[in-house]
Amino acid sequence: MIGRLNHVAIAVPDLAAATATYRDTLGARVSAPQPEPAHGVTVVFVELPNTKIELLHPLGPNSPIASFLERNPSGGIHHVCYEVPDILAARDRLKAAGARVLGDGEPRIGAHGKPVLFLHPKDFCGTLVELEQA
Ligand code: CO
Repeated sequence: MIGRLNHVAIAVPDLAAATATYRDTLGARVSAPQPEPAHGVTVVFVELPNTKIELLHPLGPNSPIASFLERNPSGGIHHVCYEVPDILAARDRLKAAGARVLGDGEPRIGAHGKPVLFLHPKDFCGTLVELEQA
């Protein structure tokens, strides 16, 4: 059911330092910081040949990654995003299998303008999983 790895999201306490690490130390191509107020994050996209890394930094008082950074002050992998061809079919199959879909279970428009859902980490090997309709 899942297809390509769309991105790995890494929450970072210092976006400029993280960007410099990827650009200068690792030699990757990085975007300018992109504020995503609707999602409570500022994102820097790191373009790799086969996928993307998204460096996430809290934006605003109710950022969904603020508590993650409190628990992981030096940052860490926040979620992985897999592509699916049909997000409603994927959701229904996962719910039928007993997996927990976060929120109200309805897809939202994600940072790339496509429908996304998040799945409970306890059902997926301790990792928050995002599904994006590709
Ligand atoms: Co994501």
